[in-house]
Amino acid sequence: MKQAISLVLSLILAGASALFALAAGTGFEDVPTTAWYAGAVNYVSEKGLMSGTGNGKFSPDTPMTRAMLAAILYRNEGQPPVVDIGAFSDVRGGWYADAVNWAAASGIVSGYGDGRFGVNDSVTRQDMAAILWRYAGSPAAVSGQDFADESSIASYAAAAVDWARANGIISGKGYNRFDPRGNATRAEIATMIMNYAQYKEGDEPTPPTPPTPSGSKTLVVYFSATGSTERVANIIAEELDADTFELVPTNSYTSADLDWTTPGSRVNREHEDESLRDIELVADTVENWEQYDNVFIGYPIWWGIAAWPVNNFITANDFTGKTVIPFCTSSSSGLGQSGTLLANMAGTGDWQEGQRFSSGASGETVRQWVQSISLN
Ligand SMILES: Cc1cc2nc3c(=O)[nH]c(=O)nc-3n(C[C@H](O)[C@H](O)[C@H](O)COP(=O)(O)O)c2cc1C
Repeated sequence: MKQAISLVLSLILAGASALFALAAGTGFEDVPTTAWYAGAVNYVSEKGLMSGTGNGKFSPDTPMTRAMLAAILYRNEGQPPVVDIGAFSDVRGGWYADAVNWAAASGIVSGYGDGRFGVNDSVTRQDMAAILWRYAGSPAAVSGQDFADESSIASYAAAAVDWARANGIISGKGYNRFDPRGNATRAEIATMIMNYAQYKEGDEPTPPTPPTPSGSKTLVVYFSATGSTERVANIIAEELDADTFELVPTNSYTSADLDWTTPGSRVNREHEDESLRDIELVADTVENWEQYDNVFIGYPIWWGIAAWPVNNFITANDFTGKTVIPFCTSSSSGLGQSGTLLANMAGTGDWQEGQRFSSGASGETVRQWVQSISLN
């Protein structure tokens, strides 16, 4: 029986990506369900903000034009009535005219000064940040961690990039680069729009009721390779007055280990060969484990599933009698099957649906979620 269960579990794990694919189903042949932007493409197409480019394609790597970005924001705004201010010679009569006129009248976009808007010009990454920031009402920006190429960000976009990064709306590329003058791709814009929606949700005021019934104890267990999940874990713990327990691999992950863009990097090897995913932890059991009624399990999403360093904690502990709440951070993917796969791996415990946060989710977003769940 045990053998049969473990065979089923390993099949589930081996096919995690495939299961995730079925669950998410992007509907575009060039958007694999394991792509980092798949969740965002689903979001923008479900909301009617972006559609495909024809022939069943989304063209995730294609640059976005200025007219198209204005159209997406205009749709997001519910397409309010527009007065044609006739500001741009290259806009009149185009399908994008209402959108560009609305965006210009709202101070979200401006033209080139020669009477043109540049409808078919590509949007750069710094323009993408600046346009969204103005759309958001130019909120105050806290400059946090700098990008390695911070000095090449144009001054008009600096506050926008700070704001977008601090709120988890836009992230950098590899090696902490922002690439401000690079073209923004359709996948990047879709991700930005989805993360912005989550940021806006977090703006709603948090109800004040404390959710944890008195007398129950809560533990927040997490693995975090680059600090995003840790930040969310600490907010949850603070909100619930809970204890935390960090899962630390004995052989910790360096930046080079985590670079999935380099073939043969440690994460790539572990992704390709499941037998390498047995990650030894400095500690996989918690003192006074029996006293906890609620256990949160946090992890980053790696290739659509929970980062595997959490696995040895899951298999080493008995969750009987505990409410278990998975949560994850990711660039774009949803929670997908990650929580269900861990629940199956554990075999015990009352596992809840769980929640995904963007890598830089605001404290307000996290607190709001914590307030919405009912614990033991
Ligand atoms: C090896 C690896 C694989 C990743 N795979 C995905 C993915 O499939 N989908 C996604 O949206 N983000 C993916 N990411 C991004 C992380 O999920 C995201 O940056 C997360 O917030 C990192 O959390 P941490 O800072 O706690 O490690 C991946 C990151 C790494 C290092």
